[in-house]
Amino acid sequence: MKKNILVIDDQLDLAESVGSFLATNGYQSHYCISTAEAQTLLKKEHFDLIISDVVMPEQSGIDFFMSIKEDLRKNQTSFILMTGDLDSISMQKAYDLGVDEFISKPFDLDDLKNVVGLVLRQADPTIDQQKFFRVSLTEFIQSSANRFDIFLQIDSNFMCLARKGQELSDARLQNYAKKGLKYVYLTAADYTKYIDIQFSISTLVQSKPLEQVKKQKLFTHLTKTISTSAYCEHMNSEIFKKALTSFENYSQIAFSHEDIFKILESMSSEGHDLADHGAQVSFLSTAIAIHWKWTHPKILSKIAMAGLLCDVGLRVTPELFVRNRTQFDPQHVKQFENHPYLSYEILSTIKDIPEEVLLVAQQHHENEGGFGFPQRLMKEKLHPYSRLIHGVSEFFDHLDSAGSKSDIQKALEQLYSFQRKTISLQVIKTLFIIFGIDVPKDMTGILLPYETSRMI
Ligand SMILES: [Fe+2]
Repeated sequence: MKKNILVIDDQLDLAESVGSFLATNGYQSHYCISTAEAQTLLKKEHFDLIISDVVMPEQSGIDFFMSIKEDLRKNQTSFILMTGDLDSISMQKAYDLGVDEFISKPFDLDDLKNVVGLVLRQADPTIDQQKFFRVSLTEFIQSSANRFDIFLQIDSNFMCLARKGQELSDARLQNYAKKGLKYVYLTAADYTKYIDIQFSISTLVQSKPLEQVKKQKLFTHLTKTISTSAYCEHMNSEIFKKALTSFENYSQIAFSHEDIFKILESMSSEGHDLADHGAQVSFLSTAIAIHWKWTHPKILSKIAMAGLLCDVGLRVTPELFVRNRTQFDPQHVKQFENHPYLSYEILSTIKDIPEEVLLVAQQHHENEGGFGFPQRLMKEKLHPYSRLIHGVSEFFDHLDSAGSKSDIQKALEQLYSFQRKTISLQVIKTLFIIFGIDVPKDMTGILLPYETSRMI
């Protein structure tokens, strides 16, 4: 059955044109020029949606909404306000009163169609349902100065909330967050712009069904590896949740890229657990970055990707050797110490891979004392992401068989006692903090790096 919509606007031509546009888009529609007329119509029939102007001579749209609010609730009628001059505070107030949506005048008819579809939860058949990338809504509000095509997922359909260029106010987005919405969705093209990684779009959106299943399987496996790891239980739960969401978001882009997926697949096949290790490093590095408020998507996505991929060079190193390198001869040691070069070589074959990811691949075993490998670089030459990921990898070396909080404490104390000259003290201190373990007294003066503007 067609949804029934009532349009109220004191400008007859506008009421009429909105009414007829809705009628040509599969709705039943009525229009009138005053709320008094609307009252009469409401007595006669049921409407699924009322679209009302705000400023009208006899009664404002907001007053009208308040006067019939109870009936609207009972009859399950939605309410959209059309307005040209409502500031964000008034808009927030109207949302708090219970208005479902706003549409700014003058509006594009396609925007009207999107908002109506959204409120009535009617999917747009022209939207391809396969190509969306998820972004945390709160993170999006904080970070996005750009305007993208923004979609919401409602009843398993992706619906357009705003088209490019349409002013989507923070008040409107915050209203969605308030209502409990956690994510918005972007197209592949916009997502790569959003995280500032310009992968070729064609490789992002073309994937055969079978590969899709493989990808999903590996993605689920890695996410599960992280969330079921014993150390996570002892982590600050707020940071854990944020880091897991970030890891899922940013690894999604990695999985959607054919070349990267092949690399990840090779890291997890034939007895190698390099992808699992990469996922752990990626996740914990992301958690630390979040604690440092390095939450800009450009930063988090690069850290997540670098952590995930930096050990791909070990793919050609015998597994046993990776696990226990001290028992091997100098030739093997050399081979091991060359893996950052190999990682760099493998990753640099990926078109458009971010520069920082390549840098971390080369530098993730360099240390702050200047005697890491393969280049023995001094601290000043190390990229902040490399110092972060190096510290996290070393932490996992100590945590191999640890599960309890005292195991974590022991690993951290070892890091602090024996590697304080080579691992970033900021990383060590943050690990103490996010695992809720008392920071050693002589570390209390160490400042954490909350400044990010230089790195974007
Ligand atoms: Fe490594």
